[in-house]
Amino acid sequence: MSSTITKAVIPAAGLGTRFLPATKAMPKEMLPVVDKPAIQYVVEEAAAAGLTDIVMVTGRHKNALENHFDRMTELESLLEIKGDHDRLAKVRHASRLADIHYLRQGDPLGLGHAVLRARMHVGDQPFAVLLGDDLIDVRDALLTRMLAEQGKRNASIVALLEVDPSQIHLYGAAAVEATDDPDVVRVTGLVEKPSTEDAPSNLAIIGRYVLRPEVFDVLERTPPGKGNEIQLTDALQEMAVTPNATGGVYGVIFRGRRYDTGDRLDYIKAIVQLAVEREDLGPDLRTWLHEFVASHVEPAGVGPAAVGSVAVG
Ligand code: G1P
Repeated sequence: MSSTITKAVIPAAGLGTRFLPATKAMPKEMLPVVDKPAIQYVVEEAAAAGLTDIVMVTGRHKNALENHFDRMTELESLLEIKGDHDRLAKVRHASRLADIHYLRQGDPLGLGHAVLRARMHVGDQPFAVLLGDDLIDVRDALLTRMLAEQGKRNASIVALLEVDPSQIHLYGAAAVEATDDPDVVRVTGLVEKPSTEDAPSNLAIIGRYVLRPEVFDVLERTPPGKGNEIQLTDALQEMAVTPNATGGVYGVIFRGRRYDTGDRLDYIKAIVQLAVEREDLGPDLRTWLHEFVASHVEPAGVGPAAVGSVAVG
């Protein structure tokens, strides 16, 4: 079923302090994952789900994002003259993915505030939110599924992933009830970044949402929460417990491939995982990884286990 939703909000105003000094003069969204900036995967995923009207909520020092998704006629002419059609196609691809609008967040008051800034652009219709730190494999079509559930249930939809309980403090956590669909749950409550003891479950919100526009009114009155920031999770908590007024919240349980680029170790893992699957790089990288792991066997046997958890087969 194809959805009528076409708008997506991509918050991209974060300072990327976890990647300093790489992000001193470059937005973290531009860090390459193999050979594409992380943000391009996110825009490609949105476009693949039919979301071609995108608003990026950015901040200072984010001009590289606008340049990346713009035409670059000088470079294009040069590649054309050289007959380098492969690279020409790659350069043009990014500028043809979607109609991207940019607005600045202004005050860095949190994710909920960034989403609220997009209100004028989104208007009175359901829309998607994609967070750039989570890369979802486009082949697993998570957004398409979420858009279909939104159409079916006329609710707001979050993507949920089962995580190890020790990791739940990094995410919004959901209290849920089963539905007649094993992949869909009704969300009865949400807590932003709870401790393991306080978490209602080990179902974590990953950075994909399809929201009803009522979220804007709720965000307007949502006070700062965790970290003294206006949290999208807190607004969704209110919506989860007021289904008559807001349509309620459902969760789609994601069982596919997700690559986290939010911190340095996960970012390195994401690059390796995506590169081993590539036709052009995968075979050589796999061979090298096997050799590398074998040559790093430590006498105590602790070395290979750590590296060996990377899926190279
Ligand atoms: C944000 C949300 C959190 C969600 C997470 C997913 O947190 O506030 O609820 O689980 O994204 O990546 P952040 O990682 O931006 O701190």
